[in-house]
Order: sequence, then structure tokens, then C-alpha cells
Amino acid sequence: MNREEAPDTAWVGALAGVSSRSASRAVREAQGEEELFRHLAGEHRRGGRSFYVEIEAPLELFALTRLLRPRHVVEVGVSSGVSSAYLLQALDRNARGTLHSVDLPQRQRPGAPAPRASWTLPPGRSTGWAVPESLKGRWDLRIGDKAKVLPLLAEELPRVDLFLYDVPHADPSAFREFVTIDRRFHRGSVAIVDHGGTHELCPSLRRWATRRGATARGRTNLGLFGFRCR
Ligand SMILES: C[S@@+](CC[C@H](N)C(=O)[O-])C[C@H]1O[C@@H](n2cnc3c(N)ncnc32)[C@H](O)[C@@H]1O
Repeated sequence: MNREEAPDTAWVGALAGVSSRSASRAVREAQGEEELFRHLAGEHRRGGRSFYVEIEAPLELFALTRLLRPRHVVEVGVSSGVSSAYLLQALDRNARGTLHSVDLPQRQRPGAPAPRASWTLPPGRSTGWAVPESLKGRWDLRIGDKAKVLPLLAEELPRVDLFLYDVPHADPSAFREFVTIDRRFHRGSVAIVDHGGTHELCPSLRRWATRRGATARGRTNLGLFGFRCR
């Protein structure tokens, strides 16, 4: 697991709707979560993965969660649980809120060598395998296809304050799934999507943003986009 070197404080401030001073404070707090970083890095080593496909901006997720103080966070795409762990750590610091995560795991083939870059589960591990046990009290982890689980969450939850979509998606599915969950968004809800190596917002989510009246803000140097709902 790599240490995040240059978190984008301005991105955090714009999405959370706070001053640069507040955003800097929250990002500094995230950088101070050394024990969590060491735990995750150690778990990845023990899982035989020196490099794993994971969110590249976990510090911003922590900072946003501290600033927004969400009741309900929804995350799609868990894998070993780097994003989940930073979200859960911030909820724990807030002493409120629940993380609802959805994942359809893919497994490393038995007997196959550990792939260099992958999100497949190593043998004997399950979704979220790196997340510290002590943080699981605020975690509602649902195993299943996002196409099936997101509509259920949209039915069940009274609101969604923060939404992270870190999962491969074909264009039509992203639009459909954002529309499904966004009826629980409110003014100030924040949605984040990870486009990996592609540094451009996909046409489907551009269409969603126009429909919703939300402006996309790109995280510097990464294929991550955030929206703050009006
Ligand atoms: C990029 S990884 C998530 C990384 C994670 N957010 C982190 O920071 O460690 C994408 C995850 O989405 C899962 N996935 C793929 N297709 C899915 C689907 N249709 N529904 C739910 N999860 C899916 C994969 O198995 C994988 O665990």
C-alpha cells in the first residue's frame, strides 16, 4: 500500500463547502492517522500484496467525512477495504454515522501467483479483509451486485450524505445507479466517482451531473471527480 503524498486540500474545501483553513485542518488530521495506515499496509503485506488497486485519495475521504459529519455514507466497491477503513475511522472520530458498503468480490484463481495490480481477494480472505476489527461497529457491509443492492439502499435509507462510487462501470449502469441513489441526496450531499487512469468524467456521469445541477470538480492529478449537490 502506498502512502498518499499530496492530498488536495482545495478539493476537500470546495466539496465540503468550508474555508481553506478548515479543510487544511481536516487534511492534517487525516495525515496524522498513522496507526491506521500502518495497520492497512501490514495487512496488505500479510495478504501477499505489496501493490493493490485501492482508492488513491483516502486522506480526502477521511477529511470530507470529518467535515460533513454524515449520518449515512454509501460506498460501492470495497475490495480489501482501504476507502472503507478511512471512512470508518472518520465516522468513529465523529462518534456518529454508518457506512453502508456494497461489493461483489472477485477472487484470485487458486494456485495462481498474486497479481501485481488487482483487486481480487487473496485465498482465504473476504471483502474488507484489511479493515481493523475495532472499526466494524459502524459498518453495514452488503455483498452483492451494485445493480441489485443500490436500489435496496435507496429504499431503506432516509438520506445519503456522502456517496463513493469506486467500481468499474459501463456508462449506462453509472447513470442508472446515480439516479437510483440520488433521490436520497440533499443540498450539500457529496458524491465521488473514481475513473482510475482515465482523467475524464465519463459521458454518463456528465449527463447525470447536468440533470442534477451538480458541478464536477476533479481531484488534482487523479481520475477522481466530486460533486456537491445543490
Ligand atoms: C477498485 S476496487 C475498490 C477499491 C476500494 N474502494 C479501496 O479503496 O480499497 C473495485 C471493487 O468493486 C467490486 N465490484 C466489481 N463489480 C461490482 C459490482 N457489479 N457490484 C459491486 N461490486 C463490484 C470489485 O470486486 C472490487 O472489490
